[in-house]
Amino acid sequence: MKISIVQTRPFQDQKPGTSGLRKRVRTFRQPHYLENFVQAIFDTQRDLQGGMLVLGGDGRYHNRDAIQVIMRMAAANGVARILVGQGGLLSTPAASCVIRKHGAAGGIVLSASHNPGGPEGDFGIKYNTANGGPAPESVTGAIHQATMDIRQYRIAEAAHVDIDHPGEQRLGETIISVIDPVSDYAELMESLFDFDRIRVMFESGAFQMRFDAMHAITGPYAMRILEERLGAPQGTVMRAEPLADFGGGHPDPNLAHARELVQALYGRDAPDFGAASDGDGDRNMILGRRFFVTPSDSLAILAANAHHLPGYSDGIRGIARSMPTSRAADRVAERLGVECFETPTGWKFFGNLLDAGRVTLCGEESFGTGSGHVREKDGLWAVLFWLNLLAVKGRSVEQIVRDHWRTFGRNYYTRHDYEALDSARADTLMQELREGLANMGGRTFGERVVTIADDFAYTDPVDGSVSEHQGIRVLFEDGARIVLRLSGTGTEGATLRVYLERFEPDPEKHDLDTQEALADLARMAEDIAGIRVHTGRDKPDVIT
Ligand code: G1P
Ligand code: ZN
Repeated sequence: MKISIVQTRPFQDQKPGTSGLRKRVRTFRQPHYLENFVQAIFDTQRDLQGGMLVLGGDGRYHNRDAIQVIMRMAAANGVARILVGQGGLLSTPAASCVIRKHGAAGGIVLSASHNPGGPEGDFGIKYNTANGGPAPESVTGAIHQATMDIRQYRIAEAAHVDIDHPGEQRLGETIISVIDPVSDYAELMESLFDFDRIRVMFESGAFQMRFDAMHAITGPYAMRILEERLGAPQGTVMRAEPLADFGGGHPDPNLAHARELVQALYGRDAPDFGAASDGDGDRNMILGRRFFVTPSDSLAILAANAHHLPGYSDGIRGIARSMPTSRAADRVAERLGVECFETPTGWKFFGNLLDAGRVTLCGEESFGTGSGHVREKDGLWAVLFWLNLLAVKGRSVEQIVRDHWRTFGRNYYTRHDYEALDSARADTLMQELREGLANMGGRTFGERVVTIADDFAYTDPVDGSVSEHQGIRVLFEDGARIVLRLSGTGTEGATLRVYLERFEPDPEKHDLDTQEALADLARMAEDIAGIRVHTGRDKPDVIT
């Protein structure tokens, strides 16, 4: 095998964001762009030399080409074995599962998650460490530094590697194993949930489900697990075939982008249960018949009920949620007498807590839920969790949620996004907010008094690392909150996210429309941040 040493120059924009390096496909297709970043991984992650690398992606446009390049670079950089998903496919949680199960040194996951795909869409690359989780900031920082200093990369001169048939082959000294992307993951799911019980529920004919794979990675996983193993009728999984451009859709499981699913669940003869996952399979949306479960509530409900399920029958260790996620889970943790952690946005902050055994369940308001079974959020896992719960309880999704509110109170919660803003103006807005924080404490807005206003900083309780500037929090005496932060995953301009929350203990008041229930907080957010003046927008682009 001949190895080429290719001379290159640094790109200035290879700093990983909330979840890896995400850019337009056309950016990634510039000569040396992908190669530089990949070499920076090999230059900094020395365990890969002589070790095992897991490789796969969500199947989006450019996935297959990138996989060929990465395999040749891995061979040139001394990786002993590559486990690559057949067809170049691996969902994000499955990649995490495979890394852990096979003791890999790390993994490269190709995905831009829920961002649109295709030649004009987005692409992304993310490094996961040996625990199966997204690299922590110390690692992404080192990789970024290496991209700034890079002068050359190594790549094997080799013909196209066949990744469409399972089996082993060699690239120089490197063994490439093409693996079934689903089986390790399906086996893990079967160890956590009561498949027999779920199967009985499907076979009774009295329970119907619809799963929207959004033409993304979860199609093959959902077909195998839901329809083949659990006996859900054919047609339960819709948009099952992964497509390079997700069929032109936006593979983000929310009320706006999973429209057909939502229509089915809100229509006549609606199924009992609806769910969807995103581009790379780590997000989930949960619906009942004419009923939407917020991700924050979902986390709290899973935590309160985990002991009913085989994989969690001993109870949970603790719960972690990202700072902007509603505090519904905190109430459950308190009741259970377990620890609850508030981390910055992004799954990577959960890794240490999971590794240290401090928490069992984690969640983010952005349709992400997961547990210690892998080190990523996991869309299908959440769906199976709910299925198992429905089978155990024999109650509807809506009944389960209402029961929960009655017991714990309801946290009304919404997120308002202002997209594609001028970056400089968005930065000014955040800067002014920060400058105003000192004078916020004790101020009154309407009937609410501010108790704490700060720029959220997190000290990792396990390794002591500190992450600053993670979003502005304004907390009120009555438990209401306003949080503002800029997105770290966008690829064009800036996105301002405004998170609003208030607690309602009174069951008589659990039926309000969410936006109405939070309208006064939305007005306060405007007063505090001057969103209109700074952005020129008078309403959000997306409300979830
Ligand atoms: C968004 C979500 C965040 C999630 C991330 C990756 O990041 O808000 O919770 O971890 O996508 O899926 P953001 O764009 O807000 O930085
Ligand atoms: Zn995702």
